[in-house]
Amino acid sequence: MSFAPLQNDTFLRACWRLSTPHTPVWLMRQAGRYLPEYRATRAQAGSFMGLATNTDYATEVTLQPLERYPLDAAILFSDILTVPDAMGLGLSFAMGEGPRFASPVRDEAAVKALRVPDLNKLKYVFDAVTSIRRALNGRVPLIGFSGSPWTLACYMVEGAGSDDYRLVKTMLYSRPDLMHHLLAINADAVAVYLNAQIDAGAQAVMIFDSWGGVLADGAFQAFSLAYTARVLAQLKREHDGTKIPRIVFTKGGGLWLSQMQSLDCEVLGLDWTVNLAQARALVGSTHALQGNLDPNVLFAPPQQVAAEARKVLEAFGAPHRGDGPGVGHIFNLGHGISQHTPPEHVTALVEAVHSHSRQMRL
Ligand code: CP3
Repeated sequence: MSFAPLQNDTFLRACWRLSTPHTPVWLMRQAGRYLPEYRATRAQAGSFMGLATNTDYATEVTLQPLERYPLDAAILFSDILTVPDAMGLGLSFAMGEGPRFASPVRDEAAVKALRVPDLNKLKYVFDAVTSIRRALNGRVPLIGFSGSPWTLACYMVEGAGSDDYRLVKTMLYSRPDLMHHLLAINADAVAVYLNAQIDAGAQAVMIFDSWGGVLADGAFQAFSLAYTARVLAQLKREHDGTKIPRIVFTKGGGLWLSQMQSLDCEVLGLDWTVNLAQARALVGSTHALQGNLDPNVLFAPPQQVAAEARKVLEAFGAPHRGDGPGVGHIFNLGHGISQHTPPEHVTALVEAVHSHSRQMRL
């Protein structure tokens, strides 16, 4: 497979902690319901999974935010729950309700029946990766992604989103052996899934540990971090002669940053509770940092959005200059963009990140 040469490599350079002319920016969930063009395509497709499983639709919606904003990376349009779906749990998205599994994993028999899924069932994802990479035509790099083993386990056991994580934590505390078995299968499934995305054309990969932060200290290390490490240990380091950077984002993981530093990855994603200056002082130059504007800032008027974006850039501090690796910052939100976000406010955000970060380099 050969693809067009990359024109904007600021995101990949920042992952490798190399100097860049501006701070690269992309947004978690940048393709989504806050964009009217997304809602129009989704109506045509009939449902979220109708979008995600159709190569042309998935390609179209991935590129929509890039048509509006000069973002520095694209992210595959899909979902973290495709993997448990391929394991046979029966994913559906009821209108306005979020995800639901028809067969949640609640007992020993269900855990022991789990297997790493047949990758053919996820072919639609890999086809989308290749199609998006072609359509990007070298404009910006394409990020592939997966949920973390723990975050997938939350949905697999709860059967849907949860406020208290009661069912998954009941299993964790009463049958840790079952939880470890489930997480080991998830880790191996996530690893083959991400490696197949890399083979299909993903130029970086990100692991979303969205619910790592709901765990107790001690449980986080044993049930989330250890299995994220198990995924990373199995990932391909390069493809077609190019190294593939790996990003790990644990929402609510700020307290464990020094332990997350032991992860064999290039970038650590941070939510808005973390002070970027302190994170940079702690992490130094072992990892680049990604984040961390509160997504709710985007509800304020554009001038305030720009001011808050400048604060995040200033908190990270002086950009790296010169040759060779130093520190790296990728601007992002601290979690996914809200569906209620006014699209013009995103214009102000991206403009402020680019212009202020250029000024910081003068
Ligand atoms: O960032 C991107 O643009 C790529 C696409 C992407 C989606 N989901 C599309 C999506 C990514 C990276 C995800 C990851 C994802 N999915 C996570 C991890 C990131 C995070 O936000 O913590 C999680 C926990 C999920 C599970 C999931 N998928 C939920 C809870 C929901 C419902 C959320 C809601 O707002 O209703 C989804 C559905 C989903 N995934 C949508 C999109 C655009 C909305 C579907 C719709 O069109 O109705």
